[in-house]
Amino acid sequence: MARLTIRGVSKSFGATHAVRDVSLDVEDGELVCLLGPSGSGKSTLLRMIGGFEAPTEGNILIDAKDVTSVPPEKRPTGMVFQSHALWTHMDVFNNIAFGLKLRRLQRSEIRERVEQALALVGLADFGKRMTTQLSGGQQQRVALARSLVLEPKILLLDEPFASLDQHLRERLRQEVRDIQQRLGITTLFVTHGQDEALAIADRIVVMRDGRTEQIGPPDRIYREPETEFVAGFIGSMNFVRTTVKDGLSQHAAFAVPVPVADGEIVLAIRPEALSLAVTKDKAGAAIVHRSIDFGTHKVVDVDLADGARVKVMTSGNSDWIKGMPVEPVATAFRVFRDNRLVYEFAAASKLKNDRVFGHA
Ligand SMILES: Nc1ncnc2c1ncn2[C@@H]1O[C@H](COP(=O)(O)OP(=O)(O)O)[C@@H](O)[C@H]1O
Ligand SMILES: [Mg+2]
Repeated sequence: MARLTIRGVSKSFGATHAVRDVSLDVEDGELVCLLGPSGSGKSTLLRMIGGFEAPTEGNILIDAKDVTSVPPEKRPTGMVFQSHALWTHMDVFNNIAFGLKLRRLQRSEIRERVEQALALVGLADFGKRMTTQLSGGQQQRVALARSLVLEPKILLLDEPFASLDQHLRERLRQEVRDIQQRLGITTLFVTHGQDEALAIADRIVVMRDGRTEQIGPPDRIYREPETEFVAGFIGSMNFVRTTVKDGLSQHAAFAVPVPVADGEIVLAIRPEALSLAVTKDKAGAAIVHRSIDFGTHKVVDVDLADGARVKVMTSGNSDWIKGMPVEPVATAFRVFRDNRLVYEFAAASKLKNDRVFGHA
């Protein structure tokens, strides 16, 4: 059980600023996902926590003890990489036992702990197999067991299942979540898959260009994105670019009140926050481009008069046919300017249905 504190950590490789002034507290037993596009600094941050890379600036603390200059093998951390790097000349048992042998544990204890670790990752009978005789998913389970057997206080996972197919990836990440919760082990999980982060994280850290763009629980990241980048990175989002004049959006299809200073804005509207009304007036109307039936719901692509296309989620029993003139209505939207949130509207919220933000 451990608490991790990252204080103002930066890392530069020559002129490349891989990580820029990141601060983060991870609570005891929490699973935090680092989510961001390739090159956003996720691996570099994780490697600094594991001790494989030294920060250019800042400090890393585990249970309030500064470990910034402690080497990896002396840290209470365990790391699992995307490419497992198992030893091919050893069987599964010895791969997992290796770290315990280095610690000079008794043979009987080594056997017991390896068997426990194997059972934990669902490979109870695989000890005698050579690692070359395992599937990709089984190899990653061995890599996970090899970390867990050392009983790290903090588990660091760098896209551990990225090379596996979708189905297996979903199963393994759920297993990791189960094991993590059972052991109560503080975990950082790097991924570039938003589904993965939404599915297993207690909190998500969205990274961009080495910075943390937003930190919060999955539902907040999805429902209350604080920047245009986060709004577009997680889930499906419609962006409508327009201008505001005298508190009114100048877009023909979304002539909604937006009480911010005149200038360019981006309306961000989730497909589920859009509904369609039939309109007789064909001139200047939005037109249904296509409707895809997912059984439980339909996703309708609608072409706006200005050429932009929006996605609308509708109920499964609605009928929208290509060429139909329609009027899209937004029940909730967020407004961004220069990546920052400036206004929010939600018709469904009775108490407070709109909010203007400071930097408007
Ligand atoms: N050892 C290194 N030497 C030079 N540049 C590096 C090194 N490691 C990472 N970088 C650079 O730092 C940035 C962040 O990389 P990385 O942390 O691997 O991102 P991510 O894991 O989010 O894809 C990238 O621009 C990458 O090229
Ligand atoms: Mg990486």
